[in-house]
Amino acid sequence: MTGTTSLIVPLDAEDDFDGWRDAARALVRADVSPDRVIWQVGEGVTDLFGGAAGPLPAATAPAFSVPRAFLDLARSVIGHRDPERFALLHTALARLREAPGLMQDQADPLIRRLEQLAKEVRRDIHKMRAFLRFREVADGGGARFVAWFEPDHHIVRANADFFLNRFAAMRWTILTPELSLDWDGETLREGPGAARADAPDGDPLEETWKTYYASIFNPARVKVGAMLKEMPRKYWKNMPETALVPALIAGAQAREAGMVAASHTAMTKGEAGTRRGASRETSWEALREEAAGCTRCPLFKPATQTVFGEGRIDAPLMFVGEQPGDQEDLAGRPFVGPAGQMFDKALAEAGLDRAAAYVTNAVKHFKYEQRGKRRIHAKPNGPEIDACRWWIDQERTLIQPRLIVALGATAARSVLGKAVTIAATRGTPHPLADGSEAWVTVHPSYLLRLPDAQAAEAEYARFVEDLARMKARLGELAG
Ligand code: URA
Repeated sequence: MTGTTSLIVPLDAEDDFDGWRDAARALVRADVSPDRVIWQVGEGVTDLFGGAAGPLPAATAPAFSVPRAFLDLARSVIGHRDPERFALLHTALARLREAPGLMQDQADPLIRRLEQLAKEVRRDIHKMRAFLRFREVADGGGARFVAWFEPDHHIVRANADFFLNRFAAMRWTILTPELSLDWDGETLREGPGAARADAPDGDPLEETWKTYYASIFNPARVKVGAMLKEMPRKYWKNMPETALVPALIAGAQAREAGMVAASHTAMTKGEAGTRRGASRETSWEALREEAAGCTRCPLFKPATQTVFGEGRIDAPLMFVGEQPGDQEDLAGRPFVGPAGQMFDKALAEAGLDRAAAYVTNAVKHFKYEQRGKRRIHAKPNGPEIDACRWWIDQERTLIQPRLIVALGATAARSVLGKAVTIAATRGTPHPLADGSEAWVTVHPSYLLRLPDAQAAEAEYARFVEDLARMKARLGELAG
């Protein structure tokens, strides 16, 4: 569409993805340049000269489709507070019509910028899940729970289903400066924004969160500075369990065993998400959500997301890899790329069932160097491994595996707490302070890198032998 006049396009809300998508598709089909469009949120919008929003221009080009990955990306980006997001997405949509492979171009500055915005939104979504705390208030209808939260982005609606699913049995209200959500046990309603003063302070529910928090608290590892970094001060003041920290630190060693026991017994399933307590699974979920917002070391910046461990929450066997690779970083799951396929094959040959184990990594973010369009794996350094030990220690405390298999030197350093070589540590058990036992073997990607086919075959057979031995050892330990 030719012309220089601006076109005002109204949107119903800051996170109005459907409104943006419908309008942007029409604009691209009418060849309207993104720099002519003024995206305005709210009712009765006008431009600076008093012009009102008009109808969208008629399409001059046929309908087109875009990859699902773009729509997922756009859905996240829309929640960002950056006012340019609508125009950036419009530009990307117009380019995608001409170049459908654009999404694969990780080096493209626009795609990188959009990925970065989406990442910030996802982190904010996870922060709300991890750091929001309900307080109990009594009203005519019985107990009701109210929480105050200040998100950085427009993510409250995106989180509504999460809170609905987790706290379906409670009546609750979430107040934020932009809007409020109210669940009466049957219907979810939206209301206007609120002020901090509208939300109550301390109440009996705090006890629930204290118990819940204690169950995932590892006093042996606590560093207040690191903790504050994990839970930014903005959230810290709203979280009742922060009052617990000095006591937890003071009685650290003596309390540790009790806490671990509490996390496994007092918090029974079925009570998850209710005011009485949290199951081991709920504690693990909370841990994973906190890890999703991890900023303990700089690796979170270029990575797409935290790749947390997965598997059986009470698995007797835990595998620890090095760090997610390119595919794991995109999928958000450990060992799904080429090394993961090699690992799965070896496990099957050794008679081990991956689904019965817990699989995680020493470092939870993908470290890489960008070379053109490719992201090349880079080895995590000592401080990065040590920073991430916070998470793996928490995973170990919750899962309580009898046997931990470290795949490669990075995993061995993380599990054993010191730098070791594979040659010196392979083939013997390493007793750990918590009563479990570590074994060290090679990393599957080492096998993938061996240039000599015969050597690769022999090393693979040795790896399978190691795994079979660990299976037998697990049987002995179970005794
Ligand atoms: N390598 C690892 O160490 N972990 C993964 O998850 C994938 C590759």
